[in-house]
Amino acid sequence: MTESDFIPEGYSHQLEDGSVSWSSPSNIALVKYWGKHEPQMPANPSISFTLDSCRSDTKLSFSKRKHAGTDFSFDLIFEGKEQPDFKPKIATFFKRIERYLPFLTDYHLVIESSNSFPHSSGIASSASAFSALALCLMSMERKLDPDMSHEDFTRKASFLSRLGSGSACRSVEGGLVVWGDHDDIPGSSDLYGIPFPFEIHERFKSYHDTILLVDKGKKQVSSTLGHQLMVDHPFGEQRFKQANSNLALLTPILQIGDLQGFIHIVEQEALSLHAMMLTSNPYFMLMKPNTLNIINSVWEFRRETGHNLCFTLDAGANVHLLFPDAESDKIYEFIKNELVAYCENGHYICDNVGSGAKQTSD
Ligand code: DP6
Repeated sequence: MTESDFIPEGYSHQLEDGSVSWSSPSNIALVKYWGKHEPQMPANPSISFTLDSCRSDTKLSFSKRKHAGTDFSFDLIFEGKEQPDFKPKIATFFKRIERYLPFLTDYHLVIESSNSFPHSSGIASSASAFSALALCLMSMERKLDPDMSHEDFTRKASFLSRLGSGSACRSVEGGLVVWGDHDDIPGSSDLYGIPFPFEIHERFKSYHDTILLVDKGKKQVSSTLGHQLMVDHPFGEQRFKQANSNLALLTPILQIGDLQGFIHIVEQEALSLHAMMLTSNPYFMLMKPNTLNIINSVWEFRRETGHNLCFTLDAGANVHLLFPDAESDKIYEFIKNELVAYCENGHYICDNVGSGAKQTSD
């Protein structure tokens, strides 16, 4: 597929006004996307678990404008309040996707969105938010072209999500999703995410992700800037090679259920991501003292008990704890007894692998 395959040839139906709603989850990367080039193409392939409880719920209401302009006409309501601060990001998204959804300027849109997780939790919401919005826009397009196949719908929803936020393209479908071209993953593409195309071992189908909220404040350095700093990064090329090779190594691990192999790659990826931040120009650090306290406690717990608990990090101080369902009782006990003390106000979120985005109304 190429980008031009996503440009519609014309629509068979008319559409006046109405609304659609989608609930779309967040995801946690196992092999990290960090570094990109225009237009939102990843410097390396990545793979993530789609989450279940951390979601954005978005309703898109549309009404045909009397005089369609060349501008975009939309209101944005987040958690019940108008949010002018978020509008420029949405306008940039609309500009990027207009070629692929030429009807956009014909409608006035009202976007009402809310997250299932607290706004100030330091959890990146762009993946769930942009995938939910992209799916709503695809539902609009499907009303104009009802013959569209489910496969085309899903692929284009992921393609559009990517143009909002790279990692969002991995939130449309459930389980494990790969984004970025890789020789070992048939069907993989830089343009959109695809479900991991091999049988996944049972253990990884019900994996847990408990998110320890170490720092609920806004990050000092955005992911957007972090990605930019990978362009001339002294270790960039090596890092992109490492991500490619880690995805190659993880591919059989996910099929055979090799927990130790999984832990090794996932933790290396998390630390490599943050090593890139520590060594970029300008350098920066998103981990906090309690991030390191948690990592050290996880390592000690693993050494002492042999339980398959590991951590990963996204672009922030919070720690995602990943573990198999079969060991979850002992691990939750450890989290409550030892790790909650490192969380801001004792807050953490229990999540697990989920089945992807869902349409909540038509
Ligand atoms: C560290 O997808 O938030 O979470 O494409 O600029 O919106 P933009 O970046 P974003 O970057 C996510 C980076 C990451 C790793 C990952 O999810 O793969």
